[in-house]
Parts: sequence; C-alpha cells; structure tokens
Amino acid sequence: MNEHLSQKIFPTTQLEDADGEGHNSSLNPTMGEIISKRFSRRSFLQGSLAVAAITATVSPVALMTAEKARANGASAFSFPEVEAGVDANHHVAEGYSADVLLRWGDALFADAPAFDPTKQTAEAQRRQFGYNNDYVGFIPLEGSSTHGLLVVNHEYTNPHLMFPGIVKIVDGKISQGKLSKEQVDVEMAAHGGTIVEIRKVDGKWKVVPESRYNRRITSTTEMQLTGPASGHERVKTSADATGTRVIGTLNNCAGGVTPWGTYIMAEENFHGYFSGELPEGHKEAANYKRYGVPEGGYDWANYYDRFDLSKEPNEANRFGWIVEVDVMDPAATPKKRTALGRTKHEGAASIVSKDGHVVFYLGDDERFDYVYKFVTSGTFNASDRAANLDLLDEGTLYVAKFAEDGTLQWLPLIFGQGPLTAENGFASQADVVIETRRAADIVGATKMDRPEDIEPNAVNGKVYVMLTNNSKRKADQVDAANPRPDNAFGHIIEITEDGGDFSATSGKWEVLLKCGDPSVAEVGATFSTETSKNGWFGMPDNCAVDSAGRLWVATDGNNNKATGRTDGLWAVDTEGDARATSRLFFRVPVGAELCGPLFAPDDETAFVAVQHPGDGGDDWSGHGRPSYYEDLSTRWPDFKDDMPVRPSVLAITKIGGGKIGI
Ligand code: FEO
Ligand code: CA
Ligand code: CA
Ligand code: CA
Repeated sequence: MNEHLSQKIFPTTQLEDADGEGHNSSLNPTMGEIISKRFSRRSFLQGSLAVAAITATVSPVALMTAEKARANGASAFSFPEVEAGVDANHHVAEGYSADVLLRWGDALFADAPAFDPTKQTAEAQRRQFGYNNDYVGFIPLEGSSTHGLLVVNHEYTNPHLMFPGIVKIVDGKISQGKLSKEQVDVEMAAHGGTIVEIRKVDGKWKVVPESRYNRRITSTTEMQLTGPASGHERVKTSADATGTRVIGTLNNCAGGVTPWGTYIMAEENFHGYFSGELPEGHKEAANYKRYGVPEGGYDWANYYDRFDLSKEPNEANRFGWIVEVDVMDPAATPKKRTALGRTKHEGAASIVSKDGHVVFYLGDDERFDYVYKFVTSGTFNASDRAANLDLLDEGTLYVAKFAEDGTLQWLPLIFGQGPLTAENGFASQADVVIETRRAADIVGATKMDRPEDIEPNAVNGKVYVMLTNNSKRKADQVDAANPRPDNAFGHIIEITEDGGDFSATSGKWEVLLKCGDPSVAEVGATFSTETSKNGWFGMPDNCAVDSAGRLWVATDGNNNKATGRTDGLWAVDTEGDARATSRLFFRVPVGAELCGPLFAPDDETAFVAVQHPGDGGDDWSGHGRPSYYEDLSTRWPDFKDDMPVRPSVLAITKIGGGKIGI
C-alpha cells in the first residue's frame, strides 16, 4: 500500500502526516542513527564520487571503465533498460512481453459472473479476483514451472476508484461520501487472497477456471487462531468465547510460500479497519496505542460491531498475525499462527537452515519499527508434507539489534527470559506475542526505517532487507537540496548470518545500497557509477531473488512530480565489481506501485502485481487533477470507456522464450 491507509483518498504527503512519528515511543536508537554514525564519512565519499563519475560519463576514461566491467561479465543482468517516466500504461524491457493474467473482477470459477462495475455485489466479488493485488506466490504442481497454483494477496480497497457516484470534488480535492452496507460488503469480499490454478500453454499463461483448487479467501472467511495466543482471554469476543475462531483476514500485504507448499498471508495495517473508543480505563489501551489502533479509515464499523472498539474491545488483538493456508485442501480453515508475533507484518519469506529448521524473515512496516525472524523448533520433512503442517506453532521469535560495528544480534522474545516477565506486564508467551512490539522495545531492538520485504538468498547465503523510507528522521539527516520534505529514499541492508546458518542468533550486516537520485550529491545515494539515469530508484519495498540468486527490487512511492518516474522493477547486482548497479526492467502506469514480484522456478516468467493504478494523477501533466471513478488518470489495463482502472497481475516472459534478464 502506498503509505498505507490509502483507503483514504488524501495525497501521499497527508497520509504520511497521518502516520505521524510512527507508534514507537521507546528510546531505542534508529537504524538511521546507527548508519549515520557508522557510515557518515564513507557514504559522503561514495555519494561525492558517484556524482563526479556521472558527470563524467561522457569521458573516454569512464566509458572504458564501464566497458571493461561489462566485458568482465561483472553484471549478472542483460536486457535493454526501460526509460523511466510517467504515463498511463506499463512498460517492459524490449524483447519481453508483459501480459495481463488476472484483473480485479476476473472470473475465478467456471460459474462466476462476468465483471460488471456498475452492478457490484459481494456475492459476485467472492467468485472473482479481488482488489489491489500485492503478494504473488507460485506453488508448482508436480514440480512444474509451467503449471501450478498462483496465490495472490488482496491488500486493501480504493472506493473512489472502485465505485461510481461516491466522490465529489470540493475545492479541487476529492471528497468521498459514506459507503453503503452493500459497498462495504463488496470491500470485505475484495480483500483477502486468491488461489488459482494456472498453466502455460504455447508460451502464454492461462487461468484454469474449472480447477478444484481455486479459492477466494476474504474478510469474512472463518480462520483458526493457533499457537501461544490461541484461547487466551485477550482474544475472546462476544462472538467467540473460545478465543480460537476469527472471522476473516485484513490488509494482506506481502506473504510467502513455505517449503512444504502452503500460502502465507501477512496481515499488515489492521489498525485502519477499527473505529470507536475503548471503554474508559480498558486494559488494552496502551497495547492499542503502540499499534495505532484505531485509525478509522474504513466505514466497516458502521455496519459491523466487531470493528467498533467500544463494542468489541478485544477484536483488534485478533489481527496483525501471519496466516497460513493449505492450498491443497480448498476446504481447509486458514490458521493465524500467533507464534510468529503480532505486528504490521509486511511479509514472511522463508528458507530451510543447514540443520533443517525453517527460518521466516519478518518486517514490521512502520517508521521506527523492527526486523524479526522466526525459527521453527521442529525440522522440515521433505518426504512427508503432512508432518510440516503445524511447524509454525512452535519456535522462537527473534528481533534484530544492529550494532555500530557491523554485527547483528537476534534477541529472543521468550516469556520469562530477560525483561519479558510479570514485572513488565508479561504473564505468559501469549502476552509476548500479542504485544510483540512492546516486547521488542524492552529487549532493546533497533528502530528501523520502515522494514518491508526481507528475502533470504539461497544462492549466496545472504538476506536482503528493504527499508522503504522514513520522512520523520531527525533534522540533521534531512538535506535542503532534496526537493522532498520527507527526504528519505530508503536503503537496502544485506545480512550475513554467522556460519552461513540462517538460524544463527548473530550475524553481520552492511548497507548494500542507499537509494535516491545519485546526481543530487546531498541525497548520498550509493548506486554504482554504471547505473544510468533510469537505473536509480527510491523506496525499495517488495523484492524477489530469482533461482540464479539475483536480486530484483520493486518500489512504492516514486510516482510523483519530484522523481518524474513511476514505481517499477529494478534489477540490482549484488556481487563483484557490479555490486549496487541497478537497471529498470519494468514500470507501472500512473498512480500504481509495484508489488509481487515473483519468478517462476525456471526463471522464464516474472509475475508482477500492479497495485492501486490510477490512484493519483494530480501531479502528472497527462491528467493534472484528482483521479476517481468518473475521471480516471488511466483506464489501465482495458482502456475502455465503460471499464474502470483495474489492479492486475501480469506475467512477463521473453519473446521467443528463455530466462528473464539473461
Ligand atoms: Fe503494504 Fe508495507 O506495504
Ligand atoms: Ca509499501
Ligand atoms: Ca508492500
Ligand atoms: Ca518478496
């Protein structure tokens, strides 16, 4: 989601203000403070050198250097770079085809109704592809790279782009009316996830509508709470006296696919769905404050009491979890695995460690929040799928502490250890996981600049952490030469776990890349000097590592006047002389951010999710005014007058076949 809670139709800058200082009032140091201490001089030098070299790219010396690097095969990527910019359509590198696979409203079942944006119903939406596709995963069937289950999260809804007749323009700004119960029901059905069988036929991917696996999961699908918080008093409600059954999942951002082939949906900005006030003196007040609950961005509480804190004070403790879905059984109850903690989970990418434990990397996407990992107690059994199905109920949740000397400690969040005791208000592991953020605060975790996707790389053994930005960093980190008041373009950290063991409790870290325009010296961006003017980016958000171990970074937030470029997918070298060289492979239409991305196991398809296209356009000369259902900045991807803009998943393939980017 772009700066989150974009359910509200305010421009990004206002949303950032709405996000305020984040919700972490602990005194732990920020990652930015540590980096500025550790790298201030080196970064300054790198930034200055980068600028000098870019100015000199016309010089024969620089050209020779670039050619020599390429002749040495320094870059792992080869494709003609896309030109950065903003317009109504998507663009992919020449020689590649980006085909629409699934659009909001597309039928997922043989008997599903055709999409009619003027006659939307919850019943129809439950049989169709949902809104705002985010995470994309692929679970091969019989080991195939051309036949499998695509799993896609539907993070949130944009009513002003979805529904006709709900927007007025007042003083040049969008004013959105209250949604009807029918519209709220459509929104609830448009959230969640999709599981759909797909097959590549003659080089093109197709949906299999008659598949027995196809399924929609929504904000009304019944789920089970498992792990330490299951059945606890703090998760009981009037509708669920057992504290074990939850209705639905919310704001599923990124996610993961486990080594045993289940689908992980991470619940991110759950606070936005809750309204109302807790009863006076309620014991959850401090807990909810730490998570920013309630935010009140949605109209759901008008029709459903469980989203009203005054009526159902514990309901918000039942969201913010990692959800696991067994895709092989379409009737399986999705499980909220509370052992992995309760945060604004961006995603949950996993890898099997040397000794068979399964390690999940977890970012809590808010300014000044933390990086986590979870290590299962049990080990992965490759020959017995069923033996793995409850691995996520037992294990150790850790939070990261980044030290100034480039080392890293993973601090365990275990009830009874260190400060996680009754004295500090933790009576059991249930309290630790329900208040994961507070537990991390008091063990001394490092405050980060919006940790988003975190991906382990099985080929080089490293872990990549996307840190989107943090406009609320201290004034001495903001430079007047930067045109944006929220002058942080984010950065990428590379972690090397000790002993090359993903389950290690310590490691080393360094900054792979400080993002932003390297031609503006004060930004201090550290792209290699071979990165072209199209190759730099800001706001790294989601990422993928392909089978060759190459890093691809998708961005969230470049779509504005200041950068003159939309979000997109960049190929980023991590090895050798080419390290920190970046190239633009794909870019999205106006208003969108790029989610996914995901490579099929044979690296011959890149799936990308274009989220919230057309959400904005005021600052693009091609539109120049607010974008809403009746006056959209783009009608991507159909470009038909009677069809609104539609978030969609695309399949990118090389024309004539072959691996992507080689
Ligand atoms: Fe949904 Fe953290 O982006
Ligand atoms: Ca984001
Ligand atoms: Ca995201
Ligand atoms: Ca990812």
